[in-house]
Amino acid sequence: MDMLVIRGGQPLRGTVRTSGAKNAALPIMAACLLTDGPVRLSEVPKLADVDSLSQLLRLLGVDVEATGPQELSLRVIDRQHFTAPYDLVRKMRASICVLGPLVARRGRAKVSLPGGCNIGHRPIDLHLRGLEALGAQIRVEGGYVEASARRLRGATISLAGPCGSTVTGTANIMAAAVLASGVTTITSAALEPEIVDLAEFLNGLGAQITGQGTPEIRIEGVAALSGGKYSVIPDRIEAATLMIAAIATRGEVTITNIQPTHLESVIHLLREAGADIEIEQSGEETRVVAAGRRMLRPIEFSATPYPGVPTDLQAQLTALLTAAAGDSTVTDAVFPNRFMHVSELCRMGARIEHRGDGVVIRGRNRLSGASVMASDLRASAALAVAALAAEGQSVIRRVYHLDRGYERLDLKLQSLGGQVERILDSPDSIPGSDPTAFLKAA
Ligand code: EPZ
Repeated sequence: MDMLVIRGGQPLRGTVRTSGAKNAALPIMAACLLTDGPVRLSEVPKLADVDSLSQLLRLLGVDVEATGPQELSLRVIDRQHFTAPYDLVRKMRASICVLGPLVARRGRAKVSLPGGCNIGHRPIDLHLRGLEALGAQIRVEGGYVEASARRLRGATISLAGPCGSTVTGTANIMAAAVLASGVTTITSAALEPEIVDLAEFLNGLGAQITGQGTPEIRIEGVAALSGGKYSVIPDRIEAATLMIAAIATRGEVTITNIQPTHLESVIHLLREAGADIEIEQSGEETRVVAAGRRMLRPIEFSATPYPGVPTDLQAQLTALLTAAAGDSTVTDAVFPNRFMHVSELCRMGARIEHRGDGVVIRGRNRLSGASVMASDLRASAALAVAALAAEGQSVIRRVYHLDRGYERLDLKLQSLGGQVERILDSPDSIPGSDPTAFLKAA
């Protein structure tokens, strides 16, 4: 298992390119089950989650091949299989995205229930209700969802949940409805750019989807889809994490392959806190320059569904605000218990208190390096931000969480001058941790 050793205090400077969006690439890959035609995807990030989904798709009879550094070619070669086993689904919840495409194309799916995870209770009732409305028979037994249908038929389905619309639920139902007979209308659909990307991808294969990016998506069912080519949108969460790291270290970083329109609420929030964010257009290319030139102002925000501040940035923003000139308040309306990073940040000297539904971050605080443990993907990114800004050396363990969703963040940070080293996790390998060092030095 790898860990990151980060020596903080170095302002990040330079230019870095964002990879393709994990949360767009995964449902798009799963949707390849809907067609027999070959699909070529570019800007697919090289991530552990992409590897896990490729493994699952292979089990389901899809030939998945890397045809370039960020390119995958996918083609269904065997339609006999319909089971997504627990061992793969537990590694990555996005595996649930195969459910809709499997029922729609193969008439049958058996997918392990993903269960809870470190960011809280994550039910899939809305996915199941949506598929039932499309005419699927659903049974939950032995930890698996079994769904079957001869042919799905269009319906009107609301995907509103107690904490907003469901993102992968919208992906699942939209993908399933593409091959249903008649028209499906999803109301209270998720507005996330990754849903728009999936709809554009499916339309490129011959689907008839309109309204993506609005709360009402209309899908006119078609008999079959073709193959095609598609390029995945840039990862807005990775881009914003890099912006936050630049600001936290009082550096200046230019980010390319970024769509600032996907980050409006975040850019607004960071500017409100006093960070400098410039959007530059040079010919076809849009670049965002993020800089931290002064002490930040404290702010108050709640993570909400798109177009709000994403829950996937809540942890990184919490880490950033430890250095603000006063107390900030943060809540998470999407995953109200997503605060596992708080106790690790406190190990680095942060003063964060749970209050009501969220946390209060006491500002004016220079963090100090410590040994910390990543508990989930975005929590590990928050720890990396904190470690880069802290005084001294930090060791972040369980970096496999980070590798699930960030394409070699360590290398990208290094290219910006960050003192980040990836080493094999063993107490002997931590620079400066050799207990006999003082003897050798003597
Ligand atoms: C997606 O998860 C993302 N994952 C998550 O990214 C992200 O945090 C989340 O959306 C919210 O933006 C992918 O896109 C692969 P939801 P998803 O269903 O779809 C409740 C990351 O770090 N809910 O939109 O699983 C749920 O409990 C991650 O990259 C129901 O009540 O999230 C939550 O409170 C982690 N019933 C809210 O809705 C359901 O059937 C939103 O969840 C489904 C969800």
